This record gives sequence, structure tokens and C-alpha cells, in this order.
Amino acid sequence: MSITVLLGAQWGDEGKGRITDALAAEADLVARFNGGDNAGHSITIGARVVKLHLIPSGILREGCLNVIGNGVVVNPINALREIAEVRAAGVDVSPRRLRISQAAHVILPGHLALDAAREAQGGIGTTKRGIGPAYSDKVARLGVRAGAMADPRAFGEAVRQHTVRVNRLLEAEFDQPPLDADAAAESYAEAAEQLRPFLDNTFQVIHNALRDGLRVLAEGAQATLLDIDHGTYPFVTSSNATVGGVLTGLGVPPQAIRRVIGVCKAFTTRVGGGPFVTELEGELALRLRGTGANPWDEYGTTTGRPRRVGWLDLVALRYAVQLNGITELALTKLDVLCGLNPVRLCTAYRHNGETLTWFPQDSDVLAECAPIYEDLPGWSEDVRNVRRFKDLPVHAQRFVERVESLAGAPVRLISVGPEREQLIWR
Ligand code: GDP
Ligand code: IMO
Ligand code: MG
Repeated sequence: MSITVLLGAQWGDEGKGRITDALAAEADLVARFNGGDNAGHSITIGARVVKLHLIPSGILREGCLNVIGNGVVVNPINALREIAEVRAAGVDVSPRRLRISQAAHVILPGHLALDAAREAQGGIGTTKRGIGPAYSDKVARLGVRAGAMADPRAFGEAVRQHTVRVNRLLEAEFDQPPLDADAAAESYAEAAEQLRPFLDNTFQVIHNALRDGLRVLAEGAQATLLDIDHGTYPFVTSSNATVGGVLTGLGVPPQAIRRVIGVCKAFTTRVGGGPFVTELEGELALRLRGTGANPWDEYGTTTGRPRRVGWLDLVALRYAVQLNGITELALTKLDVLCGLNPVRLCTAYRHNGETLTWFPQDSDVLAECAPIYEDLPGWSEDVRNVRRFKDLPVHAQRFVERVESLAGAPVRLISVGPEREQLIWR
């Protein structure tokens, strides 16, 4: 039995999609275990940029079966739109290649409305994909599972009843007009008709693959610091984006996990509200974010929002390594640091006159922390065409080595551009 886990080590958008795509060339099954279409994974293939939200990033590798696990929340309407978009890019997205867990929960129209209503009253800056309300209903045992789509009429009726219930909340708590429950039922029943062939017992699919010695890759969405339990609560998403989410979100035993790959950028970004110790403003921030002229500039794949940017935070990265048992790191966007001098690494926090080397569990404490930096010399050579570690500028090599020693995990993969071949394997 062998599962490789790939997950985000920061606040998301580390480049998980493109690293999954690279590893999927050597995998038989790629499974998403958490989140929903709040994720946005951009994968560049030549002139094309494929944007995935719900479909696992193994879909672009012909030999890969792709599984949406029970820990995921599925918006049927958006799922169908995404399937059509990926098909339009010439990819086979048939039930032969994509399976949706019968135990995954469905994002219903009421969830979208509640997410938007809460955000309008001053939320945390969600993606407004209905994620929080959908997981809330799951935990409250009020949810509708994907397996219900096998009977589209009954499913439509469940959607109608749910919408009627949410309408009462929308009116009482948010002074919002009611949703059209009949229209919701009808459109969801139609979507169910089309999604029905994709439904499967994914527990069985994954365990059969493990029994047969196939290579299984678990793909995380969101990231460690957005984890509902271990992230910067309440500025988090509503699922477990950390390694525990793999066990519950796919139904696999811990012994099956052999490798845990943490994906992190050579700097830090975050979208939405919440503390961010190394955040930068002004010229330097613009330099790291980019203007939006390049497809990889720091603007959200799902919402288009400009991402907040800052130096690499090793206190947070060390926490992610410990929490997830990260056995190796994939360091992305090394090319973006080219031309900056010095390059800074945050090695500890200053809080009330004390030095903290542990990541605080309380977001209020984190918000009061100031970064303590170690400055490293930068490099000005273009690294985008480098394919071997020893061909990197010596200061870039030192940077990577310092990151691994401070983080406590080896950097096995470095990316120097968004293209498939812009990778350095070590
Ligand atoms: P994900 O959510 O973790 O999959 O990451 P996103 O796709 O949201 O954001 C990562 C962005 O960086 C995408 O636009 C990628 O194409 C791009 N990207 C990934 N790796 C690199 C890299 O090494 N260099 C550059 N310049 N861009 C990269
Ligand atoms: P990928 O998989 C970055 C953030 C939102 C918000 C918080 C809660 O592309 O890395 P939600 O809609 O989940 O209830 O929003 O989480 N967020 C992400 N930030 N990358 C993501 O996904 C994210 N998914 C959610 O911005 O702060
Ligand atoms: Mg993203």
C-alpha cells in the first residue's frame, strides 16, 4: 500500500496543482480529499492555462484515474461547468476517468446564499462558494450527500426542502429575499441526471487500487494555515487541509502514507483576511505580486482578488512540516525572487519583547507578532532555464539549503516557472 500526499504548507496557492500535475505523470490515481471549488489550481501547458477547481489535477495525465473523495464538498452546477471547460480543452473527462464519492456532501443553493449573506455582514473574505455553510450542515447532520443524486427526483425534493429551510434563516437573520425553491430543485435535479454516472463507492476504488499496488496520490486543496483545526482560526476554510484530512477525507489508514510532500512558495501569499506576520506593502509587495500582466502573477485563480504577499515565513513552514510529517518540500516560484537583494527569511517572531520560535495557536497573538529576519544575498541571474540544482546561481543554492535547514525537511523539487518542464528534481 502506498499513498503519496501532496498538500499546501502555507496559506494556499503554493502551486499544488502544477506539482500534482508533474507527479501525476508517475501516478495511477489522484484523489482530492478536502475542500470544494473554492480551490483554484492553474496548470500551464504550453500556451494553455487550465484552471481546475474541483476536478483533481491528475485529469491532464491520460493514465490517471481521478477521484473526488468523501471529504470534498461538491457544487453540482459548477462541477458540470468545469467538466465542460476541461473537455473543451481536449481532455477526456468521462466517468472512466473521474469518480465522485457517494459520501461527498453537496453544496446547495442555500449554502451559497448564506455564505454571501455572512460575507456581506463583514466576514473573513471567503471565496463565496458556500463552503462554510455546506460543511456546517454536514457536521449538523442536515446535509445532502452526492449519493442522493442517483435518484434525481428525490434529490430535487431534498434540495427544495433544504432551500425552504434556508429561506427562513435568510429572512430572519439577514433580511434577505427568499430563494426560488422550486427552481433550485429543478436545476439541481437536472444536474444530478448528468452527474449520476460519475458517482461511485470511492472507498472501494481507492482500496482496490492500493491492493493492486497502484500508485495513489492524494491532492490537497487550500493549505495548512487555512486548516479548520490547525490554521489561523477563524480566518480559515472549513475543512482539514492537513494530513489528517487525507485519512478521513478518503477513508485510508495512516500506514498507507509513505511520503508527504509539502508545497511552498519561495515567499508567502494569502488571500482574504487574517494575520500575516511577514506581509509587505509598497514597492516590494508590488514586485512580488506582479502587475497581473503574467498569468502567474499573484491574483486569485478562483476570485481574481490580488493576493497579499510577504517574505517566506520559516516559523510557519516549520509548523507545517511538524504537523503534517512532511518528508520533503517542493519549493515553487524561485524565479520570482530573481533580482531582489537581500532575500529575507523570517526565522522567529518578536512578541511582547519575547522571541517566539513556535507558531502561536491564537490568531490574536499571531497578529501582534513582528518578524525577525535573516538576510541572505540575492541573485540576479535568470533561473528559468536551469534544470539542475548545481547550475543554479550559488546564492540561490544557499537560499534553498537555508530553507531546508530551517524548515526541517529536504527540498526535493524546485520550480523555476509555471511550465511543465520548468522543474529541478534533486
Ligand atoms: P495552487 O492553488 O496551489 O494550485 O496554486 P495556484 O494555481 O492558485 O497558484 C500558483 C500560480 O503560480 C499559478 O498561476 C501557477 O501557474 C504559477 N506557478 C507555479 N509554479 C511556478 C513557478 O515556479 N514560477 C512561476 N513564475 N509561476 C509558478
Ligand atoms: P487553493 O486550493 C487560497 C481562503 C479564502 C478565505 C478562507 C475561507 O487554490 O490553494 P472559503 O471560501 O474556503 O470559506 O474561504 O480561505 N481560501 C483560499 N486561499 N487558496 C485557496 O485554495 C483557498 N481556498 C479558500 O480566501 O480567506
Ligand atoms: Mg490556488
